[in-house]
Amino acid sequence: MAPQLIDPFARAVTYLRVSVTDRCDFRCVYCMSEDMTFLPRRDLLTLEELDRMCSTFIDLGVEKLRITGGEPLVRKGIMTFFNAMTRHLDSGALKELTLTTNGSQLTRFAPQLYAAGLRRVNVSLDTLDQAKFARVTRWGRLPQVLRGIDAARAAGLRVKINAVALQGFNEDELFSLTEWCAREDMDLTWIEVMPMGDMGETDRIGQYWPLSDVRTQLATRYTVTELDHRTGGPARYVRLQETGQQIGFITPLSHNFCETCNRVRLTCTGELYLCLGQEDMADLRAPLRDHPATDAPLIEAIHNAVGLKPQGHDFDYSRQQPDGQMSRHMSHTGG
Ligand code: 5AD
Ligand code: SF4
Repeated sequence: MAPQLIDPFARAVTYLRVSVTDRCDFRCVYCMSEDMTFLPRRDLLTLEELDRMCSTFIDLGVEKLRITGGEPLVRKGIMTFFNAMTRHLDSGALKELTLTTNGSQLTRFAPQLYAAGLRRVNVSLDTLDQAKFARVTRWGRLPQVLRGIDAARAAGLRVKINAVALQGFNEDELFSLTEWCAREDMDLTWIEVMPMGDMGETDRIGQYWPLSDVRTQLATRYTVTELDHRTGGPARYVRLQETGQQIGFITPLSHNFCETCNRVRLTCTGELYLCLGQEDMADLRAPLRDHPATDAPLIEAIHNAVGLKPQGHDFDYSRQQPDGQMSRHMSHTGG
């Protein structure tokens, strides 16, 4: 096996998140504007290029692959890509293949995803109220997503719910969401809303609700114990003693995870972002596309990029726009 990808701070990169499309069938207010302009198709990596790219990373020691978007399941022919990744699960080189989805297409895809080797999916869901769901996603419909979640579980996939914490929007659903997840045996992770891109009129949804407050409120009803295990990403976990369930908190604006960061992010156009909070990136599409017969230039570009992985991020300092806002969209980098 080729040498591991080790960054300048001795962290091994073993986790790759890949956005396979910037398109989505929803228009969540905190993610994109309603008249979002998507990238020209020729800029996207083809399914074959995605396969070559991911396979190269796996050769270089990546053990976990998470497919994101946009909404990955609206990418035409996406099962071809998932099915191609199965060979790496079969060989043992890839330990886990996972997906982050809005759930809208799961009734159709869940059995095929399971057959391709997926065992877990993350479904984004911020509210269990139909009217609120339509308001926050603009184009999404709650019953369709709930059917998708059922289909995923029926297919044998474990479902984790990701909820973006929005003050004045889903604060009042903290306990109902928690209890629903406990009843259905699903883990729940809260995500702090991030200032990203130009989101247009947000209908006043999108107010920051600090997760420290989410945790404090949980502690008024449950016995909350801190869990030690980290995943190398911006999530921390607690256990609720009464329900036994695990609750995650993703605070991408905090610095408390940088030391153990094990991941890089590939956009749907083949840019490799080294850090969620920084603009540093390397173009991997050119070395891939310009050299169809050899992976050597791509491998060199990956090594060079990982060699530039910054120690940590600085949302509130230089490099970015004055208010610390990032100019790229979550749907481009894949969260
Ligand atoms: N802040 C926090 N989470 C976001 N997501 C999209 N945009 C934002 C944002 N601005 C989340 C989605 C989903 C994941 C892919 O990213 O809700 O859970
Ligand atoms: Fe689509 Fe997810 Fe963005 Fe919502 S947050 S618009 S579901 S990519």
